[in-house]
Amino acid sequence: MLVSAKEMLQKAKAGHYAVGQFNINNLEWTKAILLTAEELKSPVILGVSEGAGKYMCGFKTVVGMVKGMIEGLGITVPVAIHLDHGSYEATKACIEAGFSSVMFDGSHYPIEENIEKTKELVAICDDLGLSLEAEVGSIGGEEDGVVGMGECADPDECKMIADLGITMLAAGIGNIHGKYPANWAGLSFETLAAISEKVGDMPLVLHGGTGIPAEMIQKAISLGVSKINVNTECQLAFAAATRKYVEEGKDLVGKGFDPRKLLAPGVEAIKATVKEKMELFGSVGKA
Ligand code: 13P
Repeated sequence: MLVSAKEMLQKAKAGHYAVGQFNINNLEWTKAILLTAEELKSPVILGVSEGAGKYMCGFKTVVGMVKGMIEGLGITVPVAIHLDHGSYEATKACIEAGFSSVMFDGSHYPIEENIEKTKELVAICDDLGLSLEAEVGSIGGEEDGVVGMGECADPDECKMIADLGITMLAAGIGNIHGKYPANWAGLSFETLAAISEKVGDMPLVLHGGTGIPAEMIQKAISLGVSKINVNTECQLAFAAATRKYVEEGKDLVGKGFDPRKLLAPGVEAIKATVKEKMELFGSVGKA
């Protein structure tokens, strides 16, 4: 069932658990995530970055694939197709293409401009019944081999953006995309607690879910995080399983080169990763 992320996240916030956003890259990814969500009766958010959208031949292709799969696989749990870290233009393009949820990442703009653009998108999303994620305090990560440390958002700026009527708020609390470096200081729970106190019932989003220790995830959920984004971990699991298959020479046995066989261990590895995360986040059985 294709839905916006609003109801599932409000329920998660009230029920003290989090819904996973798992980024998709292709058909195998999407199928693995949807089947796992259905098996575990968990709501799920499929994240689509601008780059992945381009790779999958455009946002309309993504919407067509996901809708077709929901029908073809008989998926009954709530599923949102969500733009991840969208520019202003991409956010509008995804709304046009039929996404049920979008993220406008205006964190790199001065706060006034972030507010202005977010406000305009709130009106559009409200009209269409779509959920909207906004961001304050940019989330670091590796770019050109340099790992940028994540910022900590200003709780007052978070409140200003939350009050615009968005559905969920991504706030930097020292989290970064990709693998965490050995000298990572951990999440700033002080920042998270201060933001939570300011924004009340607003579901908070934790980006960079890969590699955050389980106890930090649980503490973040207890402090108001209701959506957790995971991307790199599924990629690493897929790559390791595919590498093993090839290294064991299985592609050279019989029809082992058939992509449906070659990609199967990777799909199973994504399923196992998604299952582990849904159990940790507490969303199992919440569909
Ligand atoms: P990771 O790749 O670190 O899991 O982060 C995913 C994410 O936050 C997507 O927005």
